[in-house]
Amino acid sequence: MKILMAASEAVPFAKTGGLADAVSALSLALVKLGHEVKIVLPRYYSIDRGNLRQLEGPLGVPMGGGEEWCAVYTTVLPGSPKKNPVAVYFVDHENFFGRDGIYGVPWEPDYLDNPRRFGFLSRAAFQLCRKLDWYPDILHAHDWPAALVPVLLKFAERSGEFSQTASVLTIHNLGYQGIYGKENYGCLNLWWDTFYKAGFEDGNMMNFLKAGIYSADKLNTVSPNYARETLTQAHGFRLDGVLRCRSADYCGILNGIDGRVWNPKTDTLIPQPYSAKDMTGKAKAKEALQRAFNLPGNPGVPVVGMVTRLTEQKGVGELFGPAYGSAWSICRDMNLQFVLLGSGEPWCEQEIRSLSSRLSNFKARIGYSEELSHLIEAGSDFFLMPSRYEPCGLNQMYSLTYGTLPIVRNTGGLADTVENYNQDTGSGTGFIFDDLTPQAIYNTLGWAVWAYYNRREHIEAMRIRGMEQNFSWEKSAREYADLYASALDLIRRP
Ligand code: ADP
Ligand code: GLC
Repeated sequence: MKILMAASEAVPFAKTGGLADAVSALSLALVKLGHEVKIVLPRYYSIDRGNLRQLEGPLGVPMGGGEEWCAVYTTVLPGSPKKNPVAVYFVDHENFFGRDGIYGVPWEPDYLDNPRRFGFLSRAAFQLCRKLDWYPDILHAHDWPAALVPVLLKFAERSGEFSQTASVLTIHNLGYQGIYGKENYGCLNLWWDTFYKAGFEDGNMMNFLKAGIYSADKLNTVSPNYARETLTQAHGFRLDGVLRCRSADYCGILNGIDGRVWNPKTDTLIPQPYSAKDMTGKAKAKEALQRAFNLPGNPGVPVVGMVTRLTEQKGVGELFGPAYGSAWSICRDMNLQFVLLGSGEPWCEQEIRSLSSRLSNFKARIGYSEELSHLIEAGSDFFLMPSRYEPCGLNQMYSLTYGTLPIVRNTGGLADTVENYNQDTGSGTGFIFDDLTPQAIYNTLGWAVWAYYNRREHIEAMRIRGMEQNFSWEKSAREYADLYASALDLIRRP
């Protein structure tokens, strides 16, 4: 099959979270199965044109009753097989993308012209195919920034060369929907009746993701449990009704992890590789982690790690909220070391800075670091994810692979990938709690630390069990291929 991925992020070019990992790793897994995959992304300012090849001639994109022009650059996605590489195309529009930030900057977190910027990306996806004279079987859109792609296909483009093309929309996070004032609709070059038919209407606003959900031939999210949860009012972010209407075409496919990047046996960002058979490298990583965070180099004290965006989704309100949430009492009462890497909401960064100045066993690095994130995954004993909701979550899978026991809330993909510890039998791969309260986080961390000091044999066996799990993308890619086939079936059936 020929597949065009449309997305706002893909590693190593642009990343704010797991979406970027998923887009690139899925594309690589699909070409390994023999499919032909291309990706279209914006050429953000931070992506160096010097490393890319420019296609000849400009690309004209219909916008706002007229046309916007951009250049197109291309390169091969790193990690691609030589015989069937993933080609990445960048639409280079100075006015829309030639600035810092993917969706915004700290002083303007959601750029005012985002509907225009990402509307442009979706329209450009079709024009790019025309320019390349390459027409995909599947247009695969990711999250709200590309959600206009299925809408355009259904209401404007499905004719001629695109008459046999089907669309798939993957929801990586229902919490971000792209809701903007209706006055932005004009720039999308669609008729007003499409506004209603495609389900853009959202109160007095327009909603990109909702329209994508209405229009895509097939839909999925990134874990089976999150797919079920999003059909309920509690987790549906007001779109549960729309999703229930589409439930026959909606499923959950668990993300995998990129084994080239996240593998303790080959990781070059940790001091010494290791495996379940020889864990010396893990002890070395713990030592290096303690050193990197200026903690006493004590191998006998459990280290709890966190790498996260600091947003409500990740449970940081309960962990660091007013009066320090539960992190304060955890670090005060328990014999452990706590390390955190993350950035996000200013109030939370501030609380974390203040906490680390008051507690000798709590250390934090505010910022983004690929290298430190590997060291934390490898060097920690436990990895904490108290998420309010988690469509899939990659870090708990990295943790399991690195023999680091996840402590997670019973939600979304976390519940699909972690098995709770049973202290009678020693079974399980991590520690799970239900309620998102400071007390529940405190109690569960306390339980894990108790097991660390009192049930060491269970801890070691759980580590090995986690490391033996297989989270490869191959299985998920096969499920996507089936989803593509069913989407094609829908539109090509006589
Ligand atoms: P989400 O996409 O909701 O943030 P995921 O668990 O799916 O959550 O993916 C997060 C990804 O971003 C992981 O690869 C994680 O290691 C990475 N990440 C998040 N914050 C940082 C940071 N401050 N430094 C390095 N990597 C980070
Ligand atoms: C989103 C979700 C996260 C998921 C990632 C990749 O950012 O928050 O849970 O793992 O997308 O699909």
